[in-house]
Amino acid sequence: MFNEDFLLGGRMAEFHPVCRVGDVHEGEGKMVRVCNKLIAVFCQGGQLYAIDDMCPHMGASLSGGYVENGVVTCPWHAWRFRITDGTWADNPRIKIGSYPIRVVGDEVQVQVETTPPVRPKPQES
Ligand code: FES
Repeated sequence: MFNEDFLLGGRMAEFHPVCRVGDVHEGEGKMVRVCNKLIAVFCQGGQLYAIDDMCPHMGASLSGGYVENGVVTCPWHAWRFRITDGTWADNPRIKIGSYPIRVVGDEVQVQVETTPPVRPKPQES
């Protein structure tokens, strides 16, 4: 069986359940927490997308922004980000995080990297 979780530079990238499909409404965002990250999940055109929730300008929650044509506008000062890949629409050289997202049954899952726990070195005797 193919496992979609994978290792990335020593870190594990796993899908985590974040909400139900019906929790994310068309043209709106929903903030979820995954592994201490705040992520904004959006639904547009029936597709789900996940990007960092915190605006890099002054920290507003992008999940509360206005969504149109694949772009979310920050509710505080109107910086705009593409929900498909986190690119700043007004300066494409800058991006915020974007995350793979999938639906399993009725569950929305977002893939986020986690660092495996550090194992103590065995004691020499
Ligand atoms: S906090 Fe988002 S544009 Fe200022």
